Amino acid sequence: MEAIEKMNEQLDEATDYIQSQTQFKPSIGIILGTGLGSLVDGIEMQATVGYDKIPHFPVSTVESHAGRLLFGGLRGKPVVCMQGRFHFYEGYTLQQIAFPVRVMNRLGIKTLIVSNAAGGMNPNFNAGDIMLIKDHINFFPGNPLIGPNDEKMGDRFPDMYEVYNHDYIKMAKQVALDLKQPLQEGVYVGLTGPCLETAAEYRMLRGWGADAVGMSTVPEVIAAHHQHNRILAFSIITDMGLADNMHPCSLDDVIGTAAAAEPKLRELIAGCVEKM
Ligand code: HPA
Repeated sequence: MEAIEKMNEQLDEATDYIQSQTQFKPSIGIILGTGLGSLVDGIEMQATVGYDKIPHFPVSTVESHAGRLLFGGLRGKPVVCMQGRFHFYEGYTLQQIAFPVRVMNRLGIKTLIVSNAAGGMNPNFNAGDIMLIKDHINFFPGNPLIGPNDEKMGDRFPDMYEVYNHDYIKMAKQVALDLKQPLQEGVYVGLTGPCLETAAEYRMLRGWGADAVGMSTVPEVIAAHHQHNRILAFSIITDMGLADNMHPCSLDDVIGTAAAAEPKLRELIAGCVEKM
C-alpha cells in the first residue's frame, strides 16, 4: 500500500510540475527512438520541459539524447514527445523506464507511439527497412509491473491480447501504401543489451519467432498497455543479425542506417497521427 502511495505521490509531483510549465493537453505520446529525432521538425512547438527539471524523472545518460518533453501540434493533433529515452543497459530499473509513460498518461495521452532501432533476423528484411511491430517478446530480466499493483492504474494481470492496436496496424499499412513506402511487419524481442547478439543468440531468438531484436520499447509498451493506452510501434532495421551470415557491426553503421531511414519513418508516423 505504502509503495503505491509513494509512486502516486511521485507521479503527481512530476505531473504537477509539468502542468505548472504548460497548459498544453496532449492526446498522443511519442517516444522518439534512435533515428527519429527529426520528427521534431514537423511539430508546431508550444512548450518544452527538460527532464532534469521534472521531479523524480530519470535523466538521460546518453550524450546524443537531449532529454526533454516537447509539446505541440503534429498534423493538427496535440502530441507530447519524449526526446531522449531510457534504456535498461544504462542502469535504470524497468520501473524507472516506465515512469515517463505513467506521467504522459496523467497528462492525458490515450495513444503511445514508439520507435526504435533494431537488428533484423527475418531473412526477408534488409538494413534500412521499417518494420511495423505486431507483437513482442519480453526477454528483459523482469517486468515493469512487478511490485504492488494500483488497481486504479490497471489490472494486476493484464491480458496481452491486443497490445499493438489492430486498427492502428491496418491504418499504418494503408498509410505506407499511400506513401508508396514498403513496410515490413513482425515480432520484436526486447532484451537488455548493451552487447549485440552472438550468432547462437540470433539463431535462438529467430527460432522463438522474433523478426527483430533491440534494447528498448518492451518496458514502455507494457506500462502503456497496463494503463490502457492504444499502441503503435515501429522498428528501423539498422543491421541484419543472421546467424549463418555474421559480420562486424559498428555503432556508426547502426546510426547511419537509422539516419538514412528517418525521413521514411517520419512521414509514416506523421501520416498515422493525422488519421488518429
Ligand atoms: N541487436 C540488438 N539491438 C540492436 C541491434 C541488434 O542487432 N541493432 C540495433 N539495435
